[in-house]
Amino acid sequence: MAVRMCFPSSRPSLASDAPIGIFDSGIGGLTVAHAIAQAMPAERMLYFGDTAHMPYGDRSPELVRTYSVRIAEFLAAEGCKAIVMACNSASATAKAAVQDCVPADVPVIDVVAPVVQHLSREGVKRVGVVGTRATIGSGIYGRSLKEAQRAMGLMDGLVEEWATPLLAPLIEEGWQSHGLMLPVIQGYLEAAGWCAGTQRHIEALVLGCTHYPLAQQAFSQVLGPEVHLIDGPSIVASAVADALHARGMLAPVDGGVAQHQFMVSDLTENFVRSAQRFFGKEVHLVPGGPWFQH
Ligand code: DGL
Repeated sequence: MAVRMCFPSSRPSLASDAPIGIFDSGIGGLTVAHAIAQAMPAERMLYFGDTAHMPYGDRSPELVRTYSVRIAEFLAAEGCKAIVMACNSASATAKAAVQDCVPADVPVIDVVAPVVQHLSREGVKRVGVVGTRATIGSGIYGRSLKEAQRAMGLMDGLVEEWATPLLAPLIEEGWQSHGLMLPVIQGYLEAAGWCAGTQRHIEALVLGCTHYPLAQQAFSQVLGPEVHLIDGPSIVASAVADALHARGMLAPVDGGVAQHQFMVSDLTENFVRSAQRFFGKEVHLVPGGPWFQH
């Protein structure tokens, strides 16, 4: 059980120009940060990548929860006005614990719920989900989609989840367009039985890991045009905008170009190189965060 950090009840209320706190096990969550920056250029972000403890996808749910709570407490203590859990593995295992450890006026947005809402609103019936072992092992997408469909009075759809643990390391290596990527994706999707012409052919595929949007083209090539790829980062960015709008916390648009801060718990040259690929433009990574010793 998470130890709750005590935020003083007399804490001043958060200003709308406070940063959005966003975290992932590493740099994969930069795909979500990129979508937020595209959708809301005036918003400042404080990004934390827990590169010292990645991959979360192969850790136990208890450990992912412990890390996620420490990071969320750190971001809240830094004055963030919202927390975005830009990691499916953390969203699948630690959402409630994170919600419990931050002040009640700080909304927590994970990367699973907005996608599930999108799928049920669109009435998608046969969905495949790929992700890390932690995400797929939790069964979060199937369970949440069933709940959302029932709440909307819809019939249960078919959700199949398949762990694809080789993909995040390949993408981290910059191999998303490498010739090796296609046979690996094909191997996984064939094993899942989702390819065109098979009985379990799916209508839509959720890329349930924040690394995977970088390999979108390879997925499309293997699945063909009939399978709709779900664009998680932009759906999550809309959910963040909605949460801030509902609280009157959107940053003023005349505030100039937003300056973001990107922290990692362990800084290597390789992360610096890959970060640019994930964010789509240059990122200045600095060591920092809850485990950082000054
Ligand atoms: N980005 C993480 C996710 O969305 C996967 C990487 C990891 O295993 O740490 O689940």
